[in-house]
Amino acid sequence: MKFTIHTRLNTTAIKNLDVLLVPVVLQEQKPAVFGEAFGQLEKIDQLFIKNYIKSKAPKAGESRLLATNKAPGHVFVALDTEFTEKKIVMLVRKLVRIAKAEGFKEVGIYLDDFEKSGVFAERVAHLVTENALLAHYDFAEQFKTAPKEGWKSVGGISLFTYHDAKLIQAAVSEAELIAEAVNHCRTLANMPPSDLKPEGMAEAARTMAKQAKGLTVEVFDEKKLKSEGMNAILAVGMGSSSAPRLIIMEYKGGKSKEAPIAFVGKGVTFDSGGLNLKPGEHMADMHMDMSGGAAVIYAMYAIAKMKLPINAVGLVPAVENMPSGFSYRQGDIVKAYGGKTMEIGNTDAEGRVILADALEYVKTKKPGLTISIATLTGAAMVALGTRMSGLFVKNNKPLRDKLEELGAVSGDAVWPLPLTEENEKEVEGNFADVINTSKSGSRYGGASTAAAFLSHYAKGMNFAHLDMAPRMVANADEELSRGAVGFGVRYFVELAKQWDSVKEKLLTDLSART
Ligand code: BES
Ligand code: ZN
Ligand code: ZN
Repeated sequence: MKFTIHTRLNTTAIKNLDVLLVPVVLQEQKPAVFGEAFGQLEKIDQLFIKNYIKSKAPKAGESRLLATNKAPGHVFVALDTEFTEKKIVMLVRKLVRIAKAEGFKEVGIYLDDFEKSGVFAERVAHLVTENALLAHYDFAEQFKTAPKEGWKSVGGISLFTYHDAKLIQAAVSEAELIAEAVNHCRTLANMPPSDLKPEGMAEAARTMAKQAKGLTVEVFDEKKLKSEGMNAILAVGMGSSSAPRLIIMEYKGGKSKEAPIAFVGKGVTFDSGGLNLKPGEHMADMHMDMSGGAAVIYAMYAIAKMKLPINAVGLVPAVENMPSGFSYRQGDIVKAYGGKTMEIGNTDAEGRVILADALEYVKTKKPGLTISIATLTGAAMVALGTRMSGLFVKNNKPLRDKLEELGAVSGDAVWPLPLTEENEKEVEGNFADVINTSKSGSRYGGASTAAAFLSHYAKGMNFAHLDMAPRMVANADEELSRGAVGFGVRYFVELAKQWDSVKEKLLTDLSART
């Protein structure tokens, strides 16, 4: 999809459109505000839209595709009292999906029309570009037989504005890159489990690094995992005929001595539950249990491509969790990298087990901040629903506040959940240092229990954790195709963008904060 910026009135550009977005601001007791886009239409179509509003009396929040008499052939009329960022996002996604289904080639959007609602053209350009690309993506096109004439696709989006083209172009280019990274992440996450095993994840990371440039990738195979003492990753991988890997990506865009941000993502290419086998209905979608790892791989891609002035490390322990005669067992005691032992209370709580090795290992990179991201618990979905990921930060309110704010800015929403000393007590083991389920057997607060387990292995680091199980797959009303949403990429990129200017405020004294 091509994005073209028009900085002056351009009637030819309007004639080339197949559909124009026409937002109309409804005001109580006052006439509606018709913006720039509306102003570009011929009188006859303006009257037509006014009549439509008068006769049909559509309410705020409603939008509709209407055929016009003159160019462009169609308008997408959207009415609302205010066009907030969220509304713009949903409108753009809806418009692009309609345009794709209708076979429209060129879509027109007047960026400045949203400034009345307080969203400035540059930000609108970012939101439009990013969400147009996210809404256009459909994984089904990769495996379904294509129709003879090929899959329908929108050719381009014309962006109209009175603002400086350079400014708008910068926002568009950045958003294009981020959306591309998110869509790559979705493709990797959506891959069927027989087509993507741990080594496939490693291969994806290598390919990513070749495309992005400026990154190094190192992969530990089972031999290396053994010699390093990464027995937690090995334990979970034992039941599968496809051996586990640890993927280590490094990007150095900052000063050589500067502490990196570390992203650690769960890469379970299929989670059957292991010997604690999941029932069929819970096993559905478990090929996406590597979504956290996929997010780390493609966040690193975007960060490298954007040449951000920071250092970053991405770690992805990749395993397949399968039942077999070789599987790790309930009651096993495993010694993770660094020596801390864990009792296996349930083989289906495998994500935290593999992350333990990765979190201990990441300490060798001396990170300023470490964030884990994982489709870790069903409990996070019970607690939060499916709109936001769980955010866990212990004892650092400024960091927690910042990480919460990033959710809104990036479009990857998060919500704080508790991570306390009591939670950490819950996972102290009976026979080992820790246990991968709650010691009391309680299922309550399972997302916090999992986070607390990770926290034991993250001791001594500035640490935050995202449980992205709630955001693994798209909701039906999100105007995105079925399957993976690519949560985490936009979030990490936003963090990386802000990192240099915020880190000092967030990472001072580890112990003194509550
Ligand atoms: N991968 C699952 C969690 C999950 C469930 C992610 C649904 C996305 C959607 C994880 O490995 C798991 O099985 N967790 C268990 C933990 C329990 C055994 C303590 C769970 O949530 O039931
Ligand atoms: Zn599991
Ligand atoms: Zn899992």
